[in-house]
Amino acid sequence: MSFPKNFLWGGATAANQVEGAWKKDGKGISISDVCTGGSRTQNKRITSELEEEIFYPSHDAINHYYKYKEDIALFAEMGFKVYRFSIAWTRIFPTGEESEPNELGLRFYDAIIHECLKYNIEPLVTISHFEMPFALTKKYNGWADRRLVELYIRYAKVLFDRYKGKVTYWLTFNEINCATMAQGNLQGTGILNEGTEDFMNQIDDPQLRFQALHHQFIASAEAVKIGHSIDKNNMIGCMLANFTSYPLTPNPDDVLVNQRAMRMSNHFCGDIQVRGAYPSFSKRYFKENNITIHKEIGDDQILLEGTVDYYSFSYYTSFCQTTDPKELANGNVFGGAPNPYLKANDWGWQINPSGLRFALNEIYDRYTIPLMVVENGLGAKDVVEADGSIHDEYRIDYLKQHIEAMKEAIKDGVDLIGYTPWGCIDLVSLSTGEMAKRYGFIYVERHDDGTGDFSRKRKKSFYWYKKVIETNGNDLSITKVK
Ligand code: BG6
Repeated sequence: MSFPKNFLWGGATAANQVEGAWKKDGKGISISDVCTGGSRTQNKRITSELEEEIFYPSHDAINHYYKYKEDIALFAEMGFKVYRFSIAWTRIFPTGEESEPNELGLRFYDAIIHECLKYNIEPLVTISHFEMPFALTKKYNGWADRRLVELYIRYAKVLFDRYKGKVTYWLTFNEINCATMAQGNLQGTGILNEGTEDFMNQIDDPQLRFQALHHQFIASAEAVKIGHSIDKNNMIGCMLANFTSYPLTPNPDDVLVNQRAMRMSNHFCGDIQVRGAYPSFSKRYFKENNITIHKEIGDDQILLEGTVDYYSFSYYTSFCQTTDPKELANGNVFGGAPNPYLKANDWGWQINPSGLRFALNEIYDRYTIPLMVVENGLGAKDVVEADGSIHDEYRIDYLKQHIEAMKEAIKDGVDLIGYTPWGCIDLVSLSTGEMAKRYGFIYVERHDDGTGDFSRKRKKSFYWYKKVIETNGNDLSITKVK
């Protein structure tokens, strides 16, 4: 038992992290276009107005808007069966409220999809990936306002109609569960509360945030229904950031605190999108946090009718939960406590391949629908040698161990249909706004001071991944790689 014959091997990116061309061909300003560059020690800033002389990494990103042909040809050279990318809402509806879509924006994605199909690469489209019109933030405070549901549906419907018969795999929202945390305010729901400037420490109003999430659940469910009515072959999935965590100790209090964390960070959104109803544990959470979800008549029915066809998620790291405040103080940016058995990358993300097997088993046991790992990878600094080669064995090692973990999960009985490692080409980091944190099989000559000619180079992992795909995951050895 290994990877199934039609397993979808590929890679993943997101519009705001690769495209650049932030104002080209009628594109509107998005929430990511107002986020400055940053680093692990210097948090990104959110500027409510664009500031002169400030570096905004999404404005040029890696210039994919102009280099998509070269990039997709490189993906094809690796043998990709699938390419996950997102469509920028602001290219299609620049302020979110136009009555007609922007034809030039659509043409760009026509071209991307055409390139993919030319190489028999299945396009996998994320409809909304941390990129929505900033005009909707300014006017409505993002998804806090129910009117966003209708605007999103109008946008999604344009895509389903236009790409009928060309795109089968869709995801409604990227990492929807990030909005269960304060950091998810702007990136997830487009909420920008007064006084917010620090991307990592946003002013938070949980009532507003969970109400916004409710609107997204409704929008997602409506999109699933519409997508199916336009083309019954459409496979429409949810996408969650996986926050696997363990109790730090066998102390029953740690076990309970971990269960609570797993419920709200993972199961809450998953249950609503897969099972079609709010889980019972959410009632107590809402009560204790003074949250009241305002539902309209018919909302429960919409959720029930709009359940997803498959469950996708990102997996990078895992966490520990504890009641011990000393341990919590050492946690990384996403909270939790460090695991004493694991090593971390340069950004403090602990590496835990067996956590991926654990997550796959947990999710499949809970929902028994097809799963896809749509993000996974190692953010690392790469060095270009004098001869132009890049020896990223550390990345190969990370990916190899995670692929082995997926193999084990398949043997455990999980129906895993695809794997799209994150940042298959170097791109701008979401959490820090850096280029230095690289994930790609393809190196991009672009740096955090804005220098670089955007040229592309194949890393050692490029050749390795090509062989992995060629052998359908049977040969993971690195010895024969250039
Ligand atoms: C996921 C996002 O959270 O993680 C991506 O969907 C993001 O957009 C990726 O880039 C990796 O995170 P980072 O902060 O290293 O870019």
